[in-house]
Amino acid sequence: MLELVPITDGIGTEVRGIDVSGPISDREFDRIHQAWIDTTILLFRGQEMTPAQHIAFTRRFGEVYAYTRSQFNHDEHPEILILSNITRDGKPIGSAYSGRVWHSDGAYLTDPPVGSMLYAREVPPEGGDTWYGNMYAAYDALPPSVKERIEDLKVVISRVRSRPYNYPDRPAPTARERAEWPDVTHPLVRVHEESGRKVLYAGGNVPWRIEGMSEDESAPLITFLQEFSIQPRFTYRHQWQAGDIVLWDNRSAMHRATSYDHVKHRRLMHRTTISGGRS
Ligand code: SIN
Repeated sequence: MLELVPITDGIGTEVRGIDVSGPISDREFDRIHQAWIDTTILLFRGQEMTPAQHIAFTRRFGEVYAYTRSQFNHDEHPEILILSNITRDGKPIGSAYSGRVWHSDGAYLTDPPVGSMLYAREVPPEGGDTWYGNMYAAYDALPPSVKERIEDLKVVISRVRSRPYNYPDRPAPTARERAEWPDVTHPLVRVHEESGRKVLYAGGNVPWRIEGMSEDESAPLITFLQEFSIQPRFTYRHQWQAGDIVLWDNRSAMHRATSYDHVKHRRLMHRTTISGGRS
């Protein structure tokens, strides 16, 4: 029987009593979906799914797309991005160091993805955890004077500047990429289109700036908001077991991968991404 259990007081729901590779009724799905919108991340443990089932399950939540088209997309299912330190014939099969700073996926895009579903296939015995932060809760807890100050501000995000933070194992942007990647602007306080709730969009230890200010002028406010939002009461560190799935709502959650011993251990994660759907 479907059971929805809070992960912590501040964030997340563990979904029990469901096999995501099998049929899920609309009624069950509606409850699961609502828990996702309300609590920002969902955890499903002990799941076995093929890449095709992973894609099919993701599709229940929205349009799936391969926004990070790269050599690390699954050969037969390019909708799946492989995050791994494993090599085959001397070549990495996945991106090994992605996401080790707090971030919201695709913040550097005009239409960032609405969510991502990460499936653990092989995990190290220690390390390789993922942190999640609830940005609704962070916004709600801000002092009223700060809320008032940031209400109409916008953040400017540079894909070129954030590349080495988000993907330290990828080459620096080429001249062509630099030319093709304009900076994008998002409201610092966004209204979540499904919940209607306000949510702080200041995620990421990457050099964001406030529109109309330099990076240096923006730093005190951005740093305050970023540090405020990763307090223990808003965050959860997930220690993976093989078979775990975490689905995060990219509009209301930040996340951050952590390190592990790449020489001694293997980590193999499959990730699908849910399109923002506006472009
Ligand atoms: C990500 O940012 O999608 C990667 C998370 C992880 O590998 O733990």
